[in-house]
Amino acid sequence: MLRACETPVGVIDLPRVRANIERVLTYCSDHGITWRPHVKTHKSVRLARLQLEAGAPGLTVATPREAEVMATLTDDLLVAYPVVGGNKLERLMALPGSVRLMIGLDSSDVLAMVRSAASATHRSVRVLVEIDVGLRRVGLQTPAEAVRLAEEISESTELEYAGIMFYPGHIRSSQAKQAADLAVLGGLLQSFYDALDTAGLSPSVVSGGSTPTLWRSHEIPGLTEIRPGTCIFFDREGLAIDVAQPGHLAYSVLATVVSRAVSGQAVVDAGSKALAKEARGGDDGFGFLLDRPEVLVESLSEEHGILDLSATDWRPTVGDRVRIVPNHVCVSVNLQDHLMAVDGEHVEVWPLEARGRGPYQATGENSD
Ligand SMILES: Cc1ncc(COP(=O)(O)O)c(C=O)c1O
Repeated sequence: MLRACETPVGVIDLPRVRANIERVLTYCSDHGITWRPHVKTHKSVRLARLQLEAGAPGLTVATPREAEVMATLTDDLLVAYPVVGGNKLERLMALPGSVRLMIGLDSSDVLAMVRSAASATHRSVRVLVEIDVGLRRVGLQTPAEAVRLAEEISESTELEYAGIMFYPGHIRSSQAKQAADLAVLGGLLQSFYDALDTAGLSPSVVSGGSTPTLWRSHEIPGLTEIRPGTCIFFDREGLAIDVAQPGHLAYSVLATVVSRAVSGQAVVDAGSKALAKEARGGDDGFGFLLDRPEVLVESLSEEHGILDLSATDWRPTVGDRVRIVPNHVCVSVNLQDHLMAVDGEHVEVWPLEARGRGPYQATGENSD
């Protein structure tokens, strides 16, 4: 089936996926934290089901579509994104009543929107105060601000103050070199805990973590749950910072060599519309060949990927197939129509139900 399928297409190695999931859950249980995988990496019902069946107690989502899809699988969802605009909040409030919804936010403005949507639908919503620990993207900047917002949440009858969340996305160094950054992070978090404790608002949930800091999560004080998503597949960045080894790479883009006309290179049919043009991974280029790591994708146009053959004696011919590990897996998966799930000789086409923005229809084309 793989041999016959049209390229480019995302391919996942199911034994590696299962092993990656197991490894994260074992780490978490060894350290008394839980894993709430972020589904933005895979956007797939079947992959989320593997995570839940292996022991993840709930899921993290960023979009209403992801929430709608994942609500068919779990009753424990965290929306780790400020929900603003359109009918996003209405869509969340329309999730089945059995879903315990938790939303992270960082302003009174968003809080007011969530409060009014919750009260209009008589829905109880748990809220996390999002704090910025260094990424400078979203999140409150000081403990005093966090206390004020936590007070506002707890004064509201419709909402339940559950705790705090953060994303340490600024820490992307090699995992052996993260000690200083993690110490700063720990000190910063402690100042938030102290202020919240003094105000009688100790967080019962502290949701954080990332794939780059995954295996050092236990060094982050006070964490109750982590939300890494990329670790289900890993990618070139994970390898570059030693969070993953080559045997953990579970996603690649299957591509076909379409030209050898220019010496020293081969052109494949996976361009930026299959791999994504994210400069990551420490080195130049946009990915490497799974079976020939010395061969880099040195440049991309939309439908063309240029393989640099200068570090290899391998000379492919037109029609040969290769597997490319992208720099950043999440954006590459989001460019696929579906994934080819490979388990030994067995291959299945797995849909990506949570891709896109529109409402999820759990029947017909979208059905699992
Ligand atoms: C809010 C939030 N939580 C969790 C994650 C998952 O992290 P990672 O990509 O490091 O696995 C992300 C990633 O972007 C995120 O933005």
